Amino acid sequence: MSKLDNLFEKNRQWSASVKTSDPDFFRKLAAQQNPEYLWIGCSDSRVPANQIVGLLPGEIFVHRNVANIVVHTDLNCLSVLQFAVDVLRVKHVIVVGHYGCGGIRTAYDGGDNGLIDNWLRNIQDVHHRHRARLDAVQDREERLNLLCELNVMAQVGHVCHTTIVQNAWAREQPVAVHGWVYSLVDGQLKDLECTVDRLEQIPDAYRV
Ligand code: CO
Repeated sequence: MSKLDNLFEKNRQWSASVKTSDPDFFRKLAAQQNPEYLWIGCSDSRVPANQIVGLLPGEIFVHRNVANIVVHTDLNCLSVLQFAVDVLRVKHVIVVGHYGCGGIRTAYDGGDNGLIDNWLRNIQDVHHRHRARLDAVQDREERLNLLCELNVMAQVGHVCHTTIVQNAWAREQPVAVHGWVYSLVDGQLKDLECTVDRLEQIPDAYRV
């Protein structure tokens, strides 16, 4: 059985190069982490949070799942969000989708894909809610890109509807929730300009 020696070798090289540029780097980081951002992104291997925004270890707290979905009953995602907001006191929560997302495409195409269909149902909710707008786009790729964007905006809403974010606002702790989308084609991020940072932006029905 392979022991993945290549990965351990790469790790030794990386650790050595970091120590060369900053001998105290790991010692300082081991003492505490103080990230300003929580990144909620897709698990896709082509969308690595730290590299895309050029941040070092310690600078961004990360949660990733298939198609960057925030579900009110997902204890994993909610626990990450609570730790990030209540303990680390991040100032920004960023939901980051990406064009060319396999989760979005699979949800759009439907079919029987096994267990994951239950997860992708959340994207189909978004599709259903915006059906007229999506149907008006002739080109399939553009339609899928729009669904990627609409999904991000829906998940931004879900983050804001949590007790975690609303309780932070109630105690006047600044937390801004942003929606971005990443392009695999050119490596660039786009701000969907749907930032929410106060309770008044939330529909009454979702207020705690
Ligand atoms: Co994806």
